[in-house]
Amino acid sequence: MADQELQPSSLHLLSAFLAMESTDSLIALARECSGGSVTERVQSFIWDDCITKYAGKLHAPYLRKFLKKLIAEVELNHGDVMDELYEHYAHYMTILKDNDLEKENTRVFKYISFLFPEGCQELSSCPESRKLMVQLQCSLNMLEGDTGCSVWPSSLLLSECILSFPELFCNKSCFEVGSGVGLVGICLTHVKASKVIMSDGDLSTLANMNRNLELNHLSVETDMSETTEDPYMVKCIHLPWESVSESELQNLKADIILGADVIYDPVCLPHLVRVLTLLLNQTKLYPEKCSDNHPSFALGSKCTDAKVNGTQEANAGNDNTLDDFLVKRTHKGAANVGLKRGPMALIASVIRNVDTFNKFLALLDEANLSIEDLTESLRPLNFLPYMQSYDRSTVRLFAISCK
Ligand SMILES: C[S@@+](CC[C@H](N)C(=O)[O-])C[C@H]1O[C@@H](n2cnc3c(N)ncnc32)[C@H](O)[C@@H]1O
Repeated sequence: MADQELQPSSLHLLSAFLAMESTDSLIALARECSGGSVTERVQSFIWDDCITKYAGKLHAPYLRKFLKKLIAEVELNHGDVMDELYEHYAHYMTILKDNDLEKENTRVFKYISFLFPEGCQELSSCPESRKLMVQLQCSLNMLEGDTGCSVWPSSLLLSECILSFPELFCNKSCFEVGSGVGLVGICLTHVKASKVIMSDGDLSTLANMNRNLELNHLSVETDMSETTEDPYMVKCIHLPWESVSESELQNLKADIILGADVIYDPVCLPHLVRVLTLLLNQTKLYPEKCSDNHPSFALGSKCTDAKVNGTQEANAGNDNTLDDFLVKRTHKGAANVGLKRGPMALIASVIRNVDTFNKFLALLDEANLSIEDLTESLRPLNFLPYMQSYDRSTVRLFAISCK
């Protein structure tokens, strides 16, 4: 069955399965598909549309665990388990050892499906499916690659933000610090940022990120000085905050600097703030509007339900409304195109340790940078309604700019 014909509950189950959500949450979604117990129809859907189609691509121990839970759930409710499910489970029992799931350094493939909600008009590059599916190689060990081989909640929120407000990023030169698996950069290419440069300080994370860009059919350039017009070309560079030089950063000239879950290590913070300061102090002319270069995108991409708090600005006819909104707030009125103004940074973060965050604030202040909390005022649409592991309420969104 084609994805666009699926009922929302089935689409949520399939998306959660591909994103390797917990097997408990898969069972809960399976129940929702039939309003209670996991019927034969739902089992057929799981067999035909989830397992048969994707078994070769997903982590076998995860599939075994899901099948075990599913069979137990049906048996507990005195239902009939499909023969294929029993047989497949038996097959995994013979080929897998008990401790396979515990090998946490294993790299696995996940698919993050951004489901475009009602009210969000179709993006020109995904006219049919109304979804963007990003394939990512990740580690089951959250600490592998200096934490950069897992998907963190802040990158999910930043990705939702990019997809909710594409006009803010379209035709902009974007640079990301601590890119990890590369999800944010992939979303930036989707909304047609004019340039996407991703970076990380950890070499194994960088290698994993490169692989993810290939998996998503993006060609990668690693030379910081090269320029390219290829819209599917993204740059992926090794950029440790401690050692990157001022002259290396000068080549980047970004309009928007992004970072997700990068404020967590107090030792790294002075270096991160140094990098942000150098990038934010670069000024350049902004002569053109987004719609000049991407007319079809500017017309077709407005998300009508995302909220700029207290206003109807997201629904207004002006293509640059959100851009102006942020510029007004972060650059105190220098909103018109053609003016010289500096770049801004959008940082999404879960505040796990208040002292660490306060240290970050103090360092920004010393560096003459201002920070504004946009969490309430720039709320993205919910593109991941099936993802129970993702609690967007824990993530805060900040705009940082020169005072
Ligand atoms: C918690 S992960 C977040 C990854 C990704 N942004 C996300 O949200 O999914 C932090 C990332 O910052 C990178 N990082 C940490 N310290 C760094 C440093 N000193 N220089 C450059 N990158 C660093 C890590 O390698 C890792 O990829």
